[in-house]
Amino acid sequence: MSTDVMVASATLDIEKIRKDFPILERKVYGKPLVYFDNGATAQKPWAVIKGIEDYYTQLNSNVHRGVHHLSQQATDAYEASRRKIQAFLNAKHEHEVIYTKGTTDAINLVAYSYGKQFVKAGDTVIISAMEHHSNIVPWQIMCEDRGAQLKVIPINDKGELQMDAFAQLLHDRVKLISVAYVSNTLGTINPVKEIIELAHQYKIPVFLDAAQAVQHIPIDVQELDVDFLVFSGHKIYGPTGIGILYGKEALLNQMPPYQGGGSMIKQVTFEKTTYHDLPFRFEAGTPNIEACINLGTAIDYVTNIGLPAIQQYEHELLEYLTEQLLAIDKLRIIGTAAEKSGVVSFIVEGVHPYDVGVLLDKLGIAVRTGHHCTQPLMEFFGIPGTVRVSLAFYNTKAEIDQLAAGITRAVNMLT
Ligand code: ALA
Repeated sequence: MSTDVMVASATLDIEKIRKDFPILERKVYGKPLVYFDNGATAQKPWAVIKGIEDYYTQLNSNVHRGVHHLSQQATDAYEASRRKIQAFLNAKHEHEVIYTKGTTDAINLVAYSYGKQFVKAGDTVIISAMEHHSNIVPWQIMCEDRGAQLKVIPINDKGELQMDAFAQLLHDRVKLISVAYVSNTLGTINPVKEIIELAHQYKIPVFLDAAQAVQHIPIDVQELDVDFLVFSGHKIYGPTGIGILYGKEALLNQMPPYQGGGSMIKQVTFEKTTYHDLPFRFEAGTPNIEACINLGTAIDYVTNIGLPAIQQYEHELLEYLTEQLLAIDKLRIIGTAAEKSGVVSFIVEGVHPYDVGVLLDKLGIAVRTGHHCTQPLMEFFGIPGTVRVSLAFYNTKAEIDQLAAGITRAVNMLT
């Protein structure tokens, strides 16, 4: 860890940051809200909430469609936000940044469009055993359609990818590798740089599902040399209904449109339509304008605090959380990878995760329970589900203490 990062972390003023998030002041069942379901969706700072209000009170109009003042201002804000996202990811070109409805939408876009262009009968697509359903099912649909095979990188008992087995899966008929940067259920940070380097030796493009990564880890797509990367706005403190597909220009330029409609065309006749250039070719129809603009606001907010400082602070929280949970009788952590982001899943011997979740809820503590849209992963661990605690930089050690006390109470009641 560099000295700069340490200094930045030491200067994070969490109490001040918490005041930026109005929802953190509310009570649940008369108790202060303790929000540990950040992996499902993160809370929104005033800057984003005000940004949405400003959009509807000052700017509301359609983008890329009007000569009038409002439309031009909205279009400027919409494109300025794209440039913020470009800078955030360090993408080479702003047209490599495509607005989607979310991570799932972006994965479906690439599965359909890349699949149509590049995947043929007998080819292979590789995913991993820890993927979210949204990074499994679109590839399954595409492989069925193309007559291709879907192969899965196995994991070990800690929830880490088996990199030797991965290397064995590579050959020249593999057309794409799609893996999570960070597992939503286990918190494992995958060795994405190594995966990309290995894949590129076979000229295989790599797609990263960064839905659980961009809000925790600084990402530079050029440095990673990743081919596609996707994430959701709502998990990085922005609005819902907005996501980003980053793709290398050379690949995106070869891919056919995913959806047809307004804005994605150059010219339409009943005989033939020609398509617009990037990024508009993949942005058919009126977009979620206020969300596109305010994803930029959210990114400004995060960037101002500083991702390296956030990463450092969340790592301290993760270590503290892990320590506190391990001290609880009958509790077992699922996912003990050496490299983890701010997610801890656990089960309590003899107790259904749902019951723990309900009891915690009554204490004002929000966690997620269930299979977390990773049923194959649950099958691997031989469990129906887990309780998942997912952290954000507005969480505190005091909240972790409350959680640990709540779990201990639940364990005593239920066992
Ligand atoms: N994919 C989100 C989660 O892991 C919804 O909770």
